[in-house]
Amino acid sequence: MGISIKNICCIGAGYVGGPTMAVMSLKCPDILINVVDVNQERIDAWNSDDLSKLPIFEPGLDDIVKKTRGKNLFFSTKIQESIENADMIFISVNTPTKTKGLGAGKASDLKWVEACAREVAKFAKGHSIVVEKSTLPVRTAEVIQKILHSSIRNSIDESKSFKVLSNPEFLAEGTAINDLLNPDRVLIGGDDEQAMLSLKEIYKEWVTEDKILLTNIWSSELAKLTSNAFLAQRISSINTISAICEVTGADVREVSRAIGKDTRIGSKFLDSGPGFGGSCFKKDILNLVYLAEYFGLNEVATFWESVVQVNSWHKRRISEIIVKKLFGTVVNKKLVILGFAFKANTNDTRESAAINICKNLLNEGANLIIHDPKVTASQIENDLNINVRDSLKIENSSFNETSGTWEHSKSIRNLEIFKNSYAIIILTEWDEFRELNWREIAKKMIPPAWVFDSRSMVNPKEVRDSGLSLWRLGDGLGD
Ligand code: NAD
Ligand code: UGA
Repeated sequence: MGISIKNICCIGAGYVGGPTMAVMSLKCPDILINVVDVNQERIDAWNSDDLSKLPIFEPGLDDIVKKTRGKNLFFSTKIQESIENADMIFISVNTPTKTKGLGAGKASDLKWVEACAREVAKFAKGHSIVVEKSTLPVRTAEVIQKILHSSIRNSIDESKSFKVLSNPEFLAEGTAINDLLNPDRVLIGGDDEQAMLSLKEIYKEWVTEDKILLTNIWSSELAKLTSNAFLAQRISSINTISAICEVTGADVREVSRAIGKDTRIGSKFLDSGPGFGGSCFKKDILNLVYLAEYFGLNEVATFWESVVQVNSWHKRRISEIIVKKLFGTVVNKKLVILGFAFKANTNDTRESAAINICKNLLNEGANLIIHDPKVTASQIENDLNINVRDSLKIENSSFNETSGTWEHSKSIRNLEIFKNSYAIIILTEWDEFRELNWREIAKKMIPPAWVFDSRSMVNPKEVRDSGLSLWRLGDGLGD
């Protein structure tokens, strides 16, 4: 038996910390959970009376927050106090790719994790179980342990002790609440049985025991990176096949369906799209690449790096197809971009394929009008920042020097957004794009007008019957 946990502190109130602790608070009403963050604005949003203003859009999250916030779930910036009172501390802070110094461009930047470890070392009282919830390079637990144990040596509090566990998170954005309520598995890595059982007891409140896996700590850290690498590799694989479909007359949807029926392959994660985005796939694969290079496993590194390289090539490929279909130039042409988030049901745009594709089109001189039901204009402005666009121009010599403009449209309901446009480009699979009235839209556009569907959203017959030309990803019999 592990010790019974009564008070949890989660450091980091982001896409993982917020939803994870919300679900835990719902399922474990006897545990007091404090989610803390250095970002006051984010904490204020978590505490907002208007639940539509929570910092993260995630279906079902508002209902849970409504039930538990102020009862056993609290959001604050009281980091010291929350660590002092906790018997279990989750580290759920960001771990982006390093942009400078040793390992830049591949290794994870652990400065936020290290800062947390130092805070825990300083403020924790008595026995504390520290849980890595962030996705981390293999052997990070060693670093955390070193920082924590050095604080014991320098402490006058003789009861101070720590155990470190790895408990990576596998939720996907947009389905986070369901993923957390019904996980395929919960992974707990560690070398202290009692600490592992303490965490297991918490999950047992809603997850069946056969789904709770206990492993050694390094396997747990590596399994998280491997899981993301495998998922991303499937997407890059099917995206390369979409290119072959387009030149051979095959259809990638049919190929996906055919191979997915093979139970050894399985049907999930075989949807060809504009390229994988999200904050983690690229960073976690690069992390794996760095690890392999560090240990001199160069072939392993090259294999995994190609998954990321194909993804970049694929986004560029789509931009180039759009320009070519529009007679080789989009200068001063109005193009409607539908969707900016990296996938549907989230407001997250990190590494969204839409960012690269829009930048490429802006570089070609297009005038974009962008609509996404959940992404704000200021977020799009941040993502399309001019400096990055300038650097793109240098990297992609095939793109000329003219640069276009972009504006935001809050709604597509009155169809004004489509007026005088030359093309519509679907980049995120939001449900509202399935119900478009193509006949009415076609009347607003400048013929010969195009629909570019990178998400297999539209009914091809409906689009073509309305007089529009259609390009669908991986459709070898397309216009
Ligand atoms: P995020 O950027 O949304 O949130 C991280 C939060 O940590 C931020 O609000 C930041 O202010 C806070 N923070 C940073 N340093 C802090 C400190 N010293 N003290 C207090 N707060 C601090 O990140 P995220 O998307 O929640 O991801 C967190 C981790 O979980 C990453 O390692 C990521 O790889 C992993 N992960 C993310 C997802 C996902 O879907 N986003 C899924 C699984 C795993
Ligand atoms: C992914 C994993 O699915 C989670 O298990 C993991 O916890 C998480 O990363 C993480 O570590 O951050 P997420 O990035 O939220 O979750 O979203 P996914 O559903 O995996 O989609 C990632 C990208 O792949 C999106 O751009 C999506 O549109 C694209 N995708 C996904 C496809 O192009 N085709 C598919 O068949 C599936």
